Amino acid sequence: MDILVTKDLTKAYGKVIAANAVNISVAQGEVFALLGPNGAGKSTVLKMLTTLLPPTSGDAFIDGNSIRTQPNKVRKSIGYVPQMLAADGSLTGYENLRIFAKLYDIPSAELKQRVNDTLAFMGLADSAKKLVKDYSGGMIRKLEIAQAMMHRPKVMFLDEPTVGLDPIARKTVWEHIMQLQKEYGTTIVMTTHLMEEADEICRRVALMSNGKIVATDTPANLKASLNKPGATLEDVFIFYTGNQKEDEDGGIRNISRERRTASRLG
Ligand SMILES: Nc1ncnc2c1ncn2[C@@H]1O[C@H](COP(=O)(O)OP(=O)(O)O)[C@@H](O)[C@H]1O
Ligand SMILES: [Mg+2]
Repeated sequence: MDILVTKDLTKAYGKVIAANAVNISVAQGEVFALLGPNGAGKSTVLKMLTTLLPPTSGDAFIDGNSIRTQPNKVRKSIGYVPQMLAADGSLTGYENLRIFAKLYDIPSAELKQRVNDTLAFMGLADSAKKLVKDYSGGMIRKLEIAQAMMHRPKVMFLDEPTVGLDPIARKTVWEHIMQLQKEYGTTIVMTTHLMEEADEICRRVALMSNGKIVATDTPANLKASLNKPGATLEDVFIFYTGNQKEDEDGGIRNISRERRTASRLG
């Protein structure tokens, strides 16, 4: 069964069509990635799917509920780890999760147990009482995933979950995302720039360029489509998205975003 279906999902910012009639469907329990260069429209799609940004036209259905007309139902069935950092550095890991438990209406009788279980699941039990500003980048990402899974969502959206992490932290974060899928059957929809990892963990990927989905398939089929022995997913990426126009202000905007985040965490 497809737990996520989009129908010509479109977002225009003035003249820029950030997402142009996007059609994807994701099966329950699938690990699915949106791949594409900076400015392709990946984050815009995730923001619409998580009901944070209203579409200009089109619609999407998550577990049968429309993001346009049933956003409250959609919100109950999803978790979201945004591209920008979303944890509070001046609180402990435990305190950060407690806020999200309340936000998601976890009954107070279960709250402590749920927070502790989630910290343990993400490998953060030993750091529960430490201030998040003293966490490593990998620990912060794991805490953000923990926040987003407090209410056991059916679909987890992750926007570049491993950006800026060293290879070891990256591996741990990937392992926890996979564990989420295995233990809870959570459907994973994410974006990443790491083709090797996408190849390893995703059942299917969609390639996006200039707001449009240009190819969707399993990594194996996409590699085979190039008719080039030994083709990698990186070759697939270049083949399908290499013609995207430069996103001129994207670079600067992304850097200032990261700086803001860094200063927030002290
Ligand atoms: N709030 C905004 N206002 C105007 N343009 C935006 C806004 N957010 C994104 N864009 C533009 O939409 C396009 C897609 O951006 P985005 O979804 O962030 O791409 P990606 O996540 O693939 O890097 C880019 O051209 C970007 O400059
Ligand atoms: Mg993005």
